[in-house]
Amino acid sequence: METTLFLAIFLLLLDPFNVVSANFEGDALFAFRRAVKDPNNVLQSWDPTLVDPCTWFHVTCDDDKRVTRLDLGHAKLSGYLVPELGRLQRLQFLELYKNDLMGPIPKELGDLKNLVSLGLYQNNLTGSIPATFSNLSNIKFLRLNSNKLTGRIPRELTKLRNLKILDLSNNDLCGTFPTSGSFSKFAEESFKNNPRLEGPELMGFVRYDTGESCK
Ligand SMILES: *[C@@H]1O[C@H](CO)[C@@H](O)[C@H](O)[C@H]1NC(C)=O
Ligand SMILES: *[C@@H]1O[C@H](CO)[C@@H](O)[C@H](O)[C@H]1NC(C)=O
Repeated sequence: METTLFLAIFLLLLDPFNVVSANFEGDALFAFRRAVKDPNNVLQSWDPTLVDPCTWFHVTCDDDKRVTRLDLGHAKLSGYLVPELGRLQRLQFLELYKNDLMGPIPKELGDLKNLVSLGLYQNNLTGSIPATFSNLSNIKFLRLNSNKLTGRIPRELTKLRNLKILDLSNNDLCGTFPTSGSFSKFAEESFKNNPRLEGPELMGFVRYDTGESCK
């Protein structure tokens, strides 16, 4: 009986799953490292065998050793965003602007309930703005400008009450842009240079009826 108990405890301590889950956030970040090319080796310190990612460069943690910031703007990274980034539950700042990131924005980023700032501007991102972003209830700064984003702007985003800065300019968005809710405070500047986007302030830019052409 006693031997069995000791054995059980011993196995529990050795259980590799516990080791993995201890660095759950490090694993999520490491999934991103694997998905990008890093010619300047800015991610060199990202060692997945450490107990947490808090000593990794460009990563900031709170007192509970949970990740609160990822600061990798202007870092020459090319490649893809990964859905695993949505697991960083306490993340407040996700700054990946001015890189060469391509492909879609994972809808899982909408799970980042504590996110205050999402800086993805000046990349090569494609696809549409995830409707899941309507769940980013704490977001203040949403900058997706200067990518190749397409599709309509999700109407649900007008529910984001804390939004202070919105920049969707220089993309290929279409449809009409919302002017209700929190979007009422944003001017044409937030939406400019989306040739297929229609809106009261953008009448002069409408080139054709977007009803059919906007997917
Ligand atoms: C973006 O993608 C295009 C090809 O679609 C490529 O020619 C261009 O160099 C890319 N730009 C950046 C900043 O990665
Ligand atoms: C927002 O989050 C809730 C709860 O996590 C979820 O049920 C809902 O589907 C999410 N909404 C969107 C638009 O993703």
